[in-house]
Amino acid sequence: MDALVNPVSMSVNRPSATAEPVAAPEPAQSGPRAAVYIKSFGCQMNVYDSARMADVLASEGYQEAAGPEEADLVLLNTCHIRERASEKIFSELGRLARLKSEKAAAGGFLRIAVAGCVAQAEGAEIVRRQPAVDLVVGPQAYHRLPELLLRSRGGPVIDASFPIEDKFEHLPAATRERTLARGPTAFLTVQEGCDKFCTFCVVPYTRGAEASRTPASILKEARRLTESGVREITLLGQNVNAYRARDDSGRECSLAALMTELARLPSLVRLRYTTSHPCDMSDDLIEAHHDLPALAPFLHLPVQSGSDRILAAMNRRHTSADYLGVVDKVRTARPDIALSSDFIVGFPGESDADFEHTLALVEHVRFASAFTFAYSPRPGTPGADLPDQIPAEIQRGRLARLQALLDQQRRAFNADSIGRVVEVLFEKPGRHRGQVAGKTPHMQAIHVEAAADWIGSTAPVEILAAGPNSLFGRIVAPTGESAR
Ligand code: SAH
Ligand code: SF4
Ligand code: F3S
Repeated sequence: MDALVNPVSMSVNRPSATAEPVAAPEPAQSGPRAAVYIKSFGCQMNVYDSARMADVLASEGYQEAAGPEEADLVLLNTCHIRERASEKIFSELGRLARLKSEKAAAGGFLRIAVAGCVAQAEGAEIVRRQPAVDLVVGPQAYHRLPELLLRSRGGPVIDASFPIEDKFEHLPAATRERTLARGPTAFLTVQEGCDKFCTFCVVPYTRGAEASRTPASILKEARRLTESGVREITLLGQNVNAYRARDDSGRECSLAALMTELARLPSLVRLRYTTSHPCDMSDDLIEAHHDLPALAPFLHLPVQSGSDRILAAMNRRHTSADYLGVVDKVRTARPDIALSSDFIVGFPGESDADFEHTLALVEHVRFASAFTFAYSPRPGTPGADLPDQIPAEIQRGRLARLQALLDQQRRAFNADSIGRVVEVLFEKPGRHRGQVAGKTPHMQAIHVEAAADWIGSTAPVEILAAGPNSLFGRIVAPTGESAR
């Protein structure tokens, strides 16, 4: 399970070419509709950014394209976190370059844009490796897309800058229709960047220093989302619990204070936040899990390793005992909280004994879900230069053992839910006809037999069965009008 590299596709088209003047070398629009297709890789922050880039382009008149073949602009929103994620982009670009030549041979055209963390990390190198690329735009500059696209008509354009202007102030809001089409759950980026510099990680280099949006701008966006039918908001940040900003009266506002404000929005049912660093789990945030009914009982808290020696080499700035201390406090505040984490196996120097400490930590905590990764050395990060890199086959063996243990815990957590009644938010049609799919407060996927008009509503659901990937349940109050 590697959600961080699952591509999420999204697309927009443009009904007319009038929004942009046509300049050489691009031919005039060949048909009545010009189109863009956006494909998103990596974390939820990229999913959010892709939606916002789609909004920027929509405000320029763009609409939906079903795939790259129907598009005249393809935008890849990329991830640089592991070597495989990054290399995948270059194979994708190879396919797009061939499509571009085929289109050109047939008298059409295709522009190729690369956004996101590979764009930030590699910049002009992308165009050197794949000359078919027309535009490279980093995660902090995508509000400039219309202008950059225009300039790219004269040759490749690279913008991997960290502009001083706040991109959020320059981004158009999604229309009500576009928000509705995206469903009843939404991401909302509140914090960007990272100052932690874990020795394995590229994020501080690709996303820059920690910065938080103002509470006013977040509340405005959240209000628009809920007024358009959104029922659940997930606050995003590379280090979301490092959120710290001043409100209009100059007072410091923490993530807990921000969530207290957001929880007052009348039609907001549920709040979530991700991803958190253990060192930033402040007492007020832990208390919010006790005090705010809207805050879902789920916490993704990456630990990476259970060995203090490895945690120090990773520059995680906490020990395994510190992590377990945070877990205890959170469980005291919210006893039914479901915990999730990220793990890296085979960090340079990791011995069998270090790995056993990781297994021991997992045994102790009992996670509801987790992501596991084999360490991938990233150019420019301190970890890549450490001696004693671990051979791939040892990494694979450790990964398999860790995954087996976490899988067992996930199944046990799901099996334990059988017989409970929980509030489910229905998000989309289910796999089978007559079913709708949603999530429990503990982030478990669940299918229920119910009419499609339940989508966007909540209902109490009794959990009847647990499969490997999702639960099955029944609505306990079939007439639950109050929930709709
Ligand atoms: N900001 C978040 C997530 C960072 S990236 C945090 O601090 O937790 C998501 C996960 O990818 C990390 O938690 C880590 O487990 C994994 N990861 C990051 N760099 C990696 C690398 N070089 N090799 C393998 N996994 C890595
Ligand atoms: Fe990367 Fe560490 Fe920052 Fe998370 S806290 S983004 S793992 S450097
Ligand atoms: Fe990947 Fe960048 Fe997110 S490297 S995980 S897309 S912050």
